[in-house]
Amino acid sequence: KRIVVLISGNGSNLQALLDQSAAGLLGGDVVAVVSNKADAYGLERARMAGTATAVLPSKDYAERDSFDAALMAQIDSYTPDLVVLAGFMRILTPGFVRHYQGRMINIHPSLLPKYQGLHTHKRAIEAGDSEHGCSVHFVTEELDGGPVALQARVPIFAGDDEAAVAERVQVQEHAIYPLVVRWFCDGRLVMQQGSAFLDGTLL
Ligand code: GRF
Repeated sequence: KRIVVLISGNGSNLQALLDQSAAGLLGGDVVAVVSNKADAYGLERARMAGTATAVLPSKDYAERDSFDAALMAQIDSYTPDLVVLAGFMRILTPGFVRHYQGRMINIHPSLLPKYQGLHTHKRAIEAGDSEHGCSVHFVTEELDGGPVALQARVPIFAGDDEAAVAERVQVQEHAIYPLVVRWFCDGRLVMQQGSAFLDGTLL
């Protein structure tokens, strides 16, 4: 299977995918990494892994639609089976999302449906939550609202700051994202009529 990863920054999740891919454990190959930021460190990670990269700075496009059209053309030039959003900090247009319906996934740093949007760790701490985590979900037109494939939970301890919680969550992100990608590549995970199924069982 052919996988294209979209990033905007550090790319630690990308690294986890590249490592599993190199080990032959991903069920597919990361064929390209596309960033909307030229200085994203994840681009360096891709180059070190010998993976093709492309940069599309969103500031080069006046309209959201024209950026998304260019992004779509770039992604489709790699003929991906799966598009993986890994810290891609852009809200995508409905047309873009529809085009990749059922073959685009995202990782979000909360136990969805809790804490959609930004600053999830801070919000979980401020709410006094004793647990937090991350979710891998199919991307639908509702931001952070698509069906969840897998979640991992972590504790929040008294006195934890944002950085401590973020680090604990990221360890789990790096574990669950490659696993979900593998399920998809092996044909075990599908989205049908807005729901996610693993081996035919509704998640
Ligand atoms: C992760 O925390 C992920 O949950 C969120 O963006 C962050 C990306 O981190 N969507 P990285 O670039 O993979 O290190």
